[in-house]
Amino acid sequence: MTSDATADRIDPEHFRSVLGRHPTGVVVVTSLDEAGRPIGMTVGSFTSVSLDPPLVAFLPQRGSRTWAGIRARGSFCVNVLGAHQESVCRRMATADPGSKFDGVGWRPSAITGMPVIEDSVAVIDCTVDAVHAAGDHDIVVGAVEQLDTGAAAVPLVFYRGGYGSFVPTSLAAVDEDLLGQLRLVDRLRGELDRLAARLDTECTLVSLVRDQLILTASAGPARDSAASTRVGQRVPFLPPLGGVFAAWGGRARFDAWIAGLEPDDGADEVTSCRELAGRIRERGYVVALGHGATAHLESVSVEVPVRVPGHTPPPLHAAIAGVRSAYNPATLDATATYEFAYVSAPIFGEAGDVVLALSLYGPGEPVTGAAIEAYGREVTAMAAALSEGLAV
Ligand SMILES: Cc1cc2nc3c(=O)[nH]c(=O)nc-3n(C[C@H](O)[C@H](O)[C@H](O)COP(=O)(O)O)c2cc1C
Repeated sequence: MTSDATADRIDPEHFRSVLGRHPTGVVVVTSLDEAGRPIGMTVGSFTSVSLDPPLVAFLPQRGSRTWAGIRARGSFCVNVLGAHQESVCRRMATADPGSKFDGVGWRPSAITGMPVIEDSVAVIDCTVDAVHAAGDHDIVVGAVEQLDTGAAAVPLVFYRGGYGSFVPTSLAAVDEDLLGQLRLVDRLRGELDRLAARLDTECTLVSLVRDQLILTASAGPARDSAASTRVGQRVPFLPPLGGVFAAWGGRARFDAWIAGLEPDDGADEVTSCRELAGRIRERGYVVALGHGATAHLESVSVEVPVRVPGHTPPPLHAAIAGVRSAYNPATLDATATYEFAYVSAPIFGEAGDVVLALSLYGPGEPVTGAAIEAYGREVTAMAAALSEGLAV
């Protein structure tokens, strides 16, 4: 409850100083003035409000000229700023309304046509849904018309009157297992780079963290990945993926591997997985064939990732099942040609357990069975050398 007495008791400087202890992300709320020129203001009071219906809100000062323009237009676009956009943030907070967009690239949003600022990390296109008075500010509730992620950058953060960016200490805090893997990968980084340069092909390291396979390092030219790097991609540890860990990981690992199979996968799938693990051990490495199915699996794993541990979303499960028949064929004909995706071999840690899978990717064009076997010998030798590197 606000009263004059309360207002008198709270010193504005003290209010700012205390509230400044609360860090905020920074957005620029944009719109078009009556002449169709872009307008915008820096806002720290942006928040998500409701999922159903999708609503967001921000709190402009009553006297803001930009807010007057947004109100008249009835729609606005929220641009979440990245750490690389501090100058845009300062400009949108302090410049004259007519010159805020000088030197700032933008395009109209898809639905409302409001300005989308170049290189923002997320964009939320809204129409004004409701306005509530709140002291010297208004609470503007926006109905979300469309939203999308943008630049893959860390967000800008405002704290105690200064700017910073998000630093994920949570990686250490919540994922000790992954951190251990990253330290391991770091020790092999130089060797991985040299291998990729020597073979002129993409080489990756994959870690098994609980029930997920995580691509923890990549070197060399990515041939068939839509993303600029595969690092960070995750797929569930589910046959045939992670065959290297299942084949050399002992009973418990094998059981964890097949635990995610479903009745749809077929009654004899467990038996074929057991045979599969034996075949991989015998050959010494995993062979992944089939460009189309592998690329499809990669894109599905990005679009429909595992969100709940142990629960693989059905489209992802189907995409994994889709590569099963093409991976690890019983025989390779030396002269026949194949769509060769990659070969993987185990890297063993000091205790003799499989700690990483090393993969070499093939060229875009089909290659002979003999060439795949040459890749296989190469990946096995390299993985053995890397294992020795970890033992010292
Ligand atoms: C980090 C940061 C956060 C801000 N957050 C808000 C806010 O939540 N609401 C607001 O009215 N002004 C906020 N401002 C100030 C506005 O950006 C500024 O007053 C506005 O651009 C004034 O211009 P106008 O009168 O042309 O709208 C913020 C400024 C900065 C630097």
